[in-house]
Amino acid sequence: MNGLAVACRRVVHIYRAEAGDVVALAGVDLSIAPGETLALVGPSGSGKSTLIALLAGLMRPSAGRINIGTYDMGKLSDAEVSRLRGTEIGVVLQGAARNLLPYASLHRNIWLAQRRAAHTRGIVLDDPDRILDLVGLPGQGRARIAELTPGARQRAALAVGIAAGPGLLLVDEPTSRLDTAGRDEVLAAMETVNAERQTTIVVVTHDNEVGARHGSAGGHRHAPRLTSGRVQRHARGEAGQAQHFGESVQETVPG
Ligand SMILES: Nc1ncnc2c1ncn2[C@@H]1O[C@H](COP(=O)(O)OP(=O)(O)OP(=O)(O)O)[C@@H](O)[C@H]1O
Ligand SMILES: [Mg+2]
Repeated sequence: MNGLAVACRRVVHIYRAEAGDVVALAGVDLSIAPGETLALVGPSGSGKSTLIALLAGLMRPSAGRINIGTYDMGKLSDAEVSRLRGTEIGVVLQGAARNLLPYASLHRNIWLAQRRAAHTRGIVLDDPDRILDLVGLPGQGRARIAELTPGARQRAALAVGIAAGPGLLLVDEPTSRLDTAGRDEVLAAMETVNAERQTTIVVVTHDNEVGARHGSAGGHRHAPRLTSGRVQRHARGEAGQAQHFGESVQETVPG
């Protein structure tokens, strides 16, 4: 399947908690072209996982509109949204292990992720070995998660995310616990998936380096930033950004 476009218009998400309401997203506007790779960079608590969950249809926004491909997500039933998530939308949740069954082999994990698509007419599924090749885990079908390095585990989670051949892949913090080599392998795997399948890939991350490299494929010099539940594309001059850019400058001062 070719890449799906994504459009968010004034998306708001409020968590109702006993301690009070939390505004996790405060009016997100975002347009992503089919086949684009985009990284959204934001600090902890800025709403990254919330945005991924809304795009994946795991939650409904409090307000605003989300379009994925030709679908207006707000107009779909829960069953339709769930069907989309097993076919046209792939999601890799924060923390690789959450996406994988520990006692099953990688082959079986991929097969389980393909089950729904396998029952949908018109979808031609890739062989699990081909999917493992794509993410840089050739011949690892019999392996279990415990046998893999952290970087390979994250790529196994990616394999599950792309198993059904989605047009949109959503990835939450793919590199947060990885060393540089592990991070490079994960980024390379996502680049390969995008190049070979034209899958639209949205990554949320706190890692500026991931933002620079993953976002640049879409032609953006700076990855858009998510700050306090809002997306800012080229916001260097804006008052609300001063603190964050101050922090990122500090991080990149050579030691
Ligand atoms: N279930 C929930 N109930 C109440 N508040 C929540 C809930 N989930 C998230 N929040 C709050 O919403 C805000 C955004 O959370 P979110 O998890 O989307 O941020 P994040 O950018 O993914 O953070 P991190 O980098 O730590 O993963 C935070 O203030 C968080 O405390
Ligand atoms: Mg998160």
